[in-house]
Amino acid sequence: MLIKRPDDLPPSEITPRPLFEGRRRFLLTAGAAVAAGGSLWRGSPSEARAAAAKLGPLAPSPLSTGESPTAYKAVTGYNNFYEFGTDKEDPAKNAGLMQVRPWTVRVEGLAAKPRSFDIDEILKLAPLEERIYRLRCVEAWSMVVPWVGFPLAALLKAVQPLGSAKYVEFVSHYDPAIMLRRPVLDWPYTEGLRLDEAMHPLTILAVGVYGEVLPNQNGAPLRLVVPWKYGFKSAKSIVAIRLTEKQPATAWNKQAPYEYGFYSNVNPEVDHPRWSQATERRIGEFRKRPTLMFNGYAEQVAHLYQGLDLRKNF
Ligand code: MTE
Repeated sequence: MLIKRPDDLPPSEITPRPLFEGRRRFLLTAGAAVAAGGSLWRGSPSEARAAAAKLGPLAPSPLSTGESPTAYKAVTGYNNFYEFGTDKEDPAKNAGLMQVRPWTVRVEGLAAKPRSFDIDEILKLAPLEERIYRLRCVEAWSMVVPWVGFPLAALLKAVQPLGSAKYVEFVSHYDPAIMLRRPVLDWPYTEGLRLDEAMHPLTILAVGVYGEVLPNQNGAPLRLVVPWKYGFKSAKSIVAIRLTEKQPATAWNKQAPYEYGFYSNVNPEVDHPRWSQATERRIGEFRKRPTLMFNGYAEQVAHLYQGLDLRKNF
C-alpha cells in the first residue's frame, strides 16, 4: 500500500465542487428516502445502520471462524477504497455519493453463456450466508468481518466457463465525477484470481456485512472476499467479471510490481520488501499476534499451491 501520501487531500480533488457542495443536500434527501421506506443502497452508512436494512434469512456457514467479529464501527469506518481517498476515514466520508442501484455486472469472456446480471438477479442466484472471515491487510492490520454473501462459483457456473478459461479478472466501478481523478492507481481498480481459486468454496461475493446491506465504503453493492489472500485482492463495487486465458493485470501489481505479486497469499514467511508480514495487529487489540499461513485457511487452500514456489509467486 502507499506509505507516503500527501497530507492534504482536498475534498475538491475527489469530488467536483457542485457535487461536493450538494453532498449535504443529497444525504438529507437520501435520509428522507430511507425514512419513507425507500432504497437503502444509496444512503450513508449511519442511515443504513439506523434503518437496519437487514438481509435475511441467513444460513450460518460452517466455514466461518469462531473468533469474535471486529466492531461494526471499525469494519465500516476504517477502510481502503482508494477511489474515494487514501485516508482510512475517506471512504466512509465520500462513498455515499456512489449510486448502487440500479447496478449491472457483466460476466463475460471465455464462457458459453456470457451475459449481464442486474444486482437483484445476482441476489437470487444462491442463498445468502453469513461468513465470518479473518481479513488480513498487507499493511499488517487485521479484522474479523461477518460478511453476508454467496460463493462466487454460483455466478461463474451460471455463465458456463469454457475449458480455455484459466483466470478471472474483476473490474471495479470507476466514475471520475465522484472519485479520485489523480492516478494513485491505474483506474479502474482491477484484480484477478486463478479459476480454481475463484471456484473455491471459501471465495465469496459479499453483498452485506453484520447482517445488513453492505455500506458503500465496503464495496457496495457487490465485492469480492478471498479470505486467504491479502485484503487488496478483494475488489469492491464490481461492474465486470471476465474469464480469461492469460493472467490478468492487477492494479497493485501494475503500481509496484516488486511489492505486490499476482498471488498475494497471506504468507508470514515472505516479507513485503519494506516491512515484515510475520505479525499483525488485530484492530481493537493492542498486542501484535503472529500471522498465520494462508491467514489460517491452510487446511482448505494449501493444496492449490502444491509445487509452486511461494517466494517467487508472492
Ligand atoms: N477495491 C477497490 N475498488 N479499491 C480499493 O482501493 N482496496 C483494497 C480492497 N478492495 C480497494 C479495493 C484493500 S487494500 C483492502 S485492505 C480491502 O479492499 C479493504 O476492504 P474493507 O474496507 O471492506 O475492509
